[in-house]
Amino acid sequence: MISKKANLDNLEETEKFRVGAFSARYLKKAIERGIPKYEFPEEGMSPRAAYQLIHDETSLDGNPFLNLASFVTTWMEPEADKLIMENINKNIIDIFEYPQTAKIIHKNIVNMLGRLFNGHNTEFMGTATAGSSEAIMLGLLAHKWSWKNSGRGTGKPNVIFGTDAHVCWDKFAKYFVVDAIRIPIDKNKRTITADEVSKHIDENTIGVGCVLGTTFTGEIDPVNDINDLLLEIKREKGWDIPIHIDAASWLYTAIY
Ligand SMILES: Cc1ncc(COP(=O)(O)O)c(C=O)c1O
Repeated sequence: MISKKANLDNLEETEKFRVGAFSARYLKKAIERGIPKYEFPEEGMSPRAAYQLIHDETSLDGNPFLNLASFVTTWMEPEADKLIMENINKNIIDIFEYPQTAKIIHKNIVNMLGRLFNGHNTEFMGTATAGSSEAIMLGLLAHKWSWKNSGRGTGKPNVIFGTDAHVCWDKFAKYFVVDAIRIPIDKNKRTITADEVSKHIDENTIGVGCVLGTTFTGEIDPVNDINDLLLEIKREKGWDIPIHIDAASWLYTAIY
């Protein structure tokens, strides 16, 4: 999400300041002056008041426990919450300072997931990411490079997915200059089909997206049928086009 500059000259006085329902008792002095929404205040406030102010504001959000719409992270085991809080102040990309968290556990998990997805007899690699959008973008970028290195096509690369895919697929296409070929879905046909994918594939296709649990309905694209189609194309034309599975609602690790 991108936030725009708020034009302070056009705002009503009441829109310029923050109001905390319960924080008022800790903010008496600040409230008399007003706590600016869009500028740093001239004077600070106590940590307790700052906590209460943000706490009040975030409590207006929906309740994740009842969120079946974006259906991820609705609840975690308390031990998971505890481990996150115990390690939250580590900069986990510093693998030398924090090798346990950043390197060793990372390697364990990439291996566990690789084997979970039948990688026992094949090479695999993976990386943790800060969310599924980054995972999709890194995975698709790898497919773009594989396509380029294969010398298969010389036109503009394209990626095929259904309109049931998350918006991060469109973002990938925009950011990394790839044509997005979107197969429409509707209320009677809530996933893509191998038949429709076959109509769009050409030598510039870097990959086909299949979603394992779509963001909107939780439905699963027909991975086996699309895999059969891609194997047939490989046999007939020699194009080795990969599937990229978006299992974001299951996992927050990219495997490719
Ligand atoms: C299927 C799917 N893919 C990708 C994403 C993007 O994940 P994130 O918000 O972690 O970037 C989501 C998020 O809901 C999703 O449901």
